[in-house]
Amino acid sequence: MLGRIDHVGVAVADLEAGLAAYRGALGLEVEHREVIASQGVEALLLAVGDGHVELVAPLGPETPVGRFLARRGPGLHHVAYAVADVAAELERLRAAGVRLIDEAPRPGLRGSRVAFLHPSAAAGVLTEIVQPA
Ligand code: CO
Repeated sequence: MLGRIDHVGVAVADLEAGLAAYRGALGLEVEHREVIASQGVEALLLAVGDGHVELVAPLGPETPVGRFLARRGPGLHHVAYAVADVAAELERLRAAGVRLIDEAPRPGLRGSRVAFLHPSAAAGVLTEIVQPA
């Protein structure tokens, strides 16, 4: 079962420029910054209420986020839902016939475990499920 929305992912070409927008007038503060080499991104978590905005910048053009930026430009990239057990939820979704991107959970920010569902599973929105550490 999906829990609350954990974060919204925003793709940016440059983290500092993205941060300037979100920290400036919007007033969000940085809570965490991390390179996730296996996903080809550097990410910033900005705190807002009990959720986060996750700015993701590609480590290179031939990464999923790099290709996303080339195709669509910066903007909303994914919505992430918290789950208690990412492996069990992934199995439930697979059994329900949901099209997956990840066949198994992989490392996410701050020791979390995450998996991505194909955008066709959620009306065109790339969807992440995340089990916090
Ligand atoms: Co995310």
